[in-house]
Amino acid sequence: MQDYKNPKLILESSALEPGKFTWQSPSNLAIIKYWGKHGRQLPQNPSISFTLNSAVTQTQIEYKQREEAGHGVSLEFFFHGEPKPEFGEKQKKFLESILDIFPFLNQMDLTIRSGNSFPHSSGIASSASSMSALALCLCSIEDKLFGTLSDDEAFDRKASYVARLGSGSACRSVYGTMALWGKFGEVEGSDDTVAIPMEDHVHPLFKTFHDDILIVSKSEKSVSSRAGHGLMEQNPFAAPRYQQANQRLHELLPALRQGDLETFGRITENEALSLHALMMTSNPSYILMQPNTLEMINRLRAFREDTGHPVYFSLDAGPNLHVLYPEDAIHAIRPFIEEELVPLCEEDAWLPDWVGEGPEEL
Ligand code: PMV
Repeated sequence: MQDYKNPKLILESSALEPGKFTWQSPSNLAIIKYWGKHGRQLPQNPSISFTLNSAVTQTQIEYKQREEAGHGVSLEFFFHGEPKPEFGEKQKKFLESILDIFPFLNQMDLTIRSGNSFPHSSGIASSASSMSALALCLCSIEDKLFGTLSDDEAFDRKASYVARLGSGSACRSVYGTMALWGKFGEVEGSDDTVAIPMEDHVHPLFKTFHDDILIVSKSEKSVSSRAGHGLMEQNPFAAPRYQQANQRLHELLPALRQGDLETFGRITENEALSLHALMMTSNPSYILMQPNTLEMINRLRAFREDTGHPVYFSLDAGPNLHVLYPEDAIHAIRPFIEEELVPLCEEDAWLPDWVGEGPEEL
């Protein structure tokens, strides 16, 4: 495990040339879920995800010589062009928590401008895309000022490490197609502190997979992911759950390699329901699915049974349904989605998405 604390990343000269960097980074959907953590954002079990294409955050960091020394990081924050103090405060706290990794941040006045491709109040989680975009910008600044991350692999690795500290699942968004986070004996190089790219371990079928997001509710969820992870510490099913995740990953990896859709679909759906079962068996217990989430699941399973088409669902920590299917099934699946599922969405809202190539510097 690598540790990125580095007190040497301090600017010696007082004349800092102002600069800015912009990254666009996607959200991701976990197939094997991360739920439960320990230490400084370390996962209790390995997880693997699809990197999405259309659900993205764009973040720009502008920096210049700090004018007045002061306590803490000097930050102005804009979300979709407007000051957004509650988001800004969160980002400032996060930046202050990683001053051991990027001590030069204290020597600058920073302006962050950020925005999502999806509406903030769409019920789509933005922490993975926003934290990975932020981490990538920070690594670009480090590389520009110190020349320490010119190796692409080292750059991505550090970005993944830093993104993880912001939001665990964000570390996987640094890589396109699929990424694995967490030590897993069967995958060389896997690690609890960073994600690793899995593109070379998956069948071409999965590289163009669809992941349409059906918005059952636009409301903010009643229990945050942070609180949910915390409740796992007392959950009586925690230990068998971590074992189950490892066992499922063991079964999933060959299915991903071989393009075995049936195994993929079975594990994907079981994982989604296991995640929500953990919420229901927490103390206090809570339910994030809505009646229409269940209605969509029932319709999707009936459609699959009737037609034999390879269409599966997943859920994040919320009520919205992710509908997963291979590219060559789109002509059969899209009409089903539009006719049978979209009417169950809040204001008919849904976001067609698919597996993407990962972040991009703009
Ligand atoms: O990254 P966090 O702390 O918001 O946790 C995300 C957890 C899930 O999205 C439910 C699962 C996962 O592995 O992404």
